[in-house]
Amino acid sequence: MPDGHHAWILTDYELIRSVLADHQRFSSRQELWHLPFPFLGEGDTMPPAGPGDPSGIDPPDHTRLRRAVAGLFTVRRMRQLTERIEKMTTRHLDAMEKLTPPVDLMKVFAEAIPYLTICELLAIPDDRRGEFHRQARTVQSWDAGLEERGAAISGIQEFLTGLVAEKRANPTDDMISDLAATELALDEVVGFCLYLLFAGMDTTANMIATGMWVLFSHPDQLAALREDPTLINDAVEELLRYLTVADMSFRTALEDVELGGEIVKAGETVVSSLAVGNRDPKKYPDPDRLDLRRRPTGHLAFSHGVHQCLGQQLARTEMQVAIPALLERFPSLRLAASDEEISIRTRENVYGVHSLPVSWEQA
Ligand code: HEM
Repeated sequence: MPDGHHAWILTDYELIRSVLADHQRFSSRQELWHLPFPFLGEGDTMPPAGPGDPSGIDPPDHTRLRRAVAGLFTVRRMRQLTERIEKMTTRHLDAMEKLTPPVDLMKVFAEAIPYLTICELLAIPDDRRGEFHRQARTVQSWDAGLEERGAAISGIQEFLTGLVAEKRANPTDDMISDLAATELALDEVVGFCLYLLFAGMDTTANMIATGMWVLFSHPDQLAALREDPTLINDAVEELLRYLTVADMSFRTALEDVELGGEIVKAGETVVSSLAVGNRDPKKYPDPDRLDLRRRPTGHLAFSHGVHQCLGQQLARTEMQVAIPALLERFPSLRLAASDEEISIRTRENVYGVHSLPVSWEQA
């Protein structure tokens, strides 16, 4: 690692699963991380995870938090959100149709759907959404300075604190009121909402935009999906496996452990490359081939074990709604640049593209 600390990278599907399932020996505690975050000065270590952040803690703290939020994505709430996602998708496609191509699919469509879904989930009022988005982007930007990020986080926290307190006093029919009604303390609910905002935006946006790029580069697969839209659920799973945009999971060994014939010492970092594990030929034959009919059960795109993605059903729904609707509305949709011209994210912790120029025949 940049600070000279020793880290291991796992690329074998079964080894990755075994480490992610073993939270007793492989900790997620944030204060043990040695990651090269741009906002850390030399010699700085990470502080412990803030209240409500599920990713940087271990059981039993993690179990308590996950139990409190386990009932959030009920069938009724998911149905409610699905209807909203369908409406937002239609609205954005209507607006996109009025534009003159080429347009940036990331900007006009892919990033809007997950962002607005989170706004629905958190019941962010319409007149606050623009400002909320600006602040959220600043926090996620690798170019923003420490002070700018700090100000954006404080702005979001302050706003969410007021919102959660209001929902606690006067609950409405939405997920944030369900959250506010849990046993969690106010700062934990706010911290959890903040985490949802970051966990659910870039990941899903990049699955939609980069997923479309992958489909454009595999015309036979794209044609199969256009011909048979019922293929979408299998297509989404294969795109998740093939792209694995959240490509790494970090853990710290709490004791000396033998892994794949090597001794990992207590305190060393173990990085699970979910992206490479999802291309392990022992698990998925001919893994570099995109095959929308593959049905890659057990893929690692949402990780594995106690920290497995809590929003995976929501993410799947967003993709299952957005991608077919886009293909149906724009039968001639195509990439408006060569593959070499697409700007790929290289520094961010979610893989994908900065933008995706697309074009279509106008009626
Ligand atoms: C955790 C991927 C969308 C909420 C994770 C992890 C991965 C992941 C790999 C585990 C990280 C680890 O093991 O250290 C993805 C991908 C998504 C997506 C690829 C989109 C395609 C979402 C959405 C939400 C969400 C839409 C909610 C709105 C969470 C939460 C956790 C998490 C709360 C933390 C779980 C825990 O630590 O207990 N996600 N995610 N994710 N994700 Fe997602």
